[in-house]
Amino acid sequence: MNEPLGSKTAAMEGGGLYNRHSGLQHANLQTALPLLEEAARLIGQSSAGLAVIADYGASQGRNSMGPMGRAIDLMRQQDEDRPVQVFHADLPSNDFTSLFTLLADDPASYLSGRTAVYPTAIGRSYFEAILPPSSVDLGWSSNALHWMSESPVEVDDHAWAVFSASQAARDAVDDVLARDWLQFLTARNLELRPGGRLICQFMGRGESELGFEWMAGLFWQSIVELREEGHLTEAETQRMTAPSAGRSLAQVAAPLQSGEVPGLEIDHLSLFESPDPFWDEYQGTGDARRLGEQWSCMMRAANGPNFAAGLDVSRDRNALLDRLTDRLAARIAAAPQRSRSWNVLLSVTKSK
Ligand SMILES: C[S@@+](CC[C@H](N)C(=O)[O-])C[C@H]1O[C@@H](n2cnc3c(N)ncnc32)[C@H](O)[C@@H]1O
Repeated sequence: MNEPLGSKTAAMEGGGLYNRHSGLQHANLQTALPLLEEAARLIGQSSAGLAVIADYGASQGRNSMGPMGRAIDLMRQQDEDRPVQVFHADLPSNDFTSLFTLLADDPASYLSGRTAVYPTAIGRSYFEAILPPSSVDLGWSSNALHWMSESPVEVDDHAWAVFSASQAARDAVDDVLARDWLQFLTARNLELRPGGRLICQFMGRGESELGFEWMAGLFWQSIVELREEGHLTEAETQRMTAPSAGRSLAQVAAPLQSGEVPGLEIDHLSLFESPDPFWDEYQGTGDARRLGEQWSCMMRAANGPNFAAGLDVSRDRNALLDRLTDRLAARIAAAPQRSRSWNVLLSVTKSK
């Protein structure tokens, strides 16, 4: 029997921080909504009884509220009393308290104004099956699948191994990306009921640039600056290698086209250039300091816990992350640019 797969990757920064600083991710997922809506409508027309939605990589929930509300309404177009269960899955270390608080109290909650909706959380890695076979009608995953199950390699020339000068390091990243992706699809292939759909949006990889060169570069320069000032040791700096990387369309399509996941058929696969909502706001305000704050807080909320995991136990992790965030903000504000990166958009159907 295979060992259960866990994940050595840390969740987003808790205390609701990710909810407060995920405007970029919110902007990214808008492009995936038409696919989600089409899937929900079709499922509503072709099935009855309890409808099950799985939200893979939900984090603290802010960015799930709109998509889940829309999907619930469309699945109920034929039967407005149809009960819907929504499973929000994330890593065990995720801040589920913020998710449930938001569901209970926030006007944006999809529970608000709707009855017979049953939210549930799963604190397990989605790189294994986490729901019963053939139980899921609609799967959704936004801004999550570029997080690998573990850091494939530690490099000393960048904070993301995918940008290392070492070919061996970049190959190690691609190996883990491929293994994780196959595990994810294999698990969803078990969970989806025949006719069920899965919509995924996550970080992609451009053709001439990978994406995030500028922002990831500034982040690394900020880490090096802290090391040079004696706030980080060489060993800590080396351990600060984030377990995330985008996939090319060919990498996404490979297991679906090779027959490794028989039963999942591609309805849609494309790459789109990410929006930069912080840059758009800056175009109106000219406020470079705010641009720096918005980007650096987002980078911290998403990446902070993984970088903090590389620190010696004696460190004051929050103080170090505060310092890193300030340095990054200052660098962005000093020479503002529009960030360039790409996103994958995928819809697959489980064959009948
Ligand atoms: C950037 S957040 C995205 C949250 C939300 N879906 C959104 O669109 O803003 C990525 C989430 O994926 C979760 N995640 C990463 N690896 C995971 C895994 N193996 N299993 C479950 N969740 C995972 C992280 O903990 C994090 O909460």
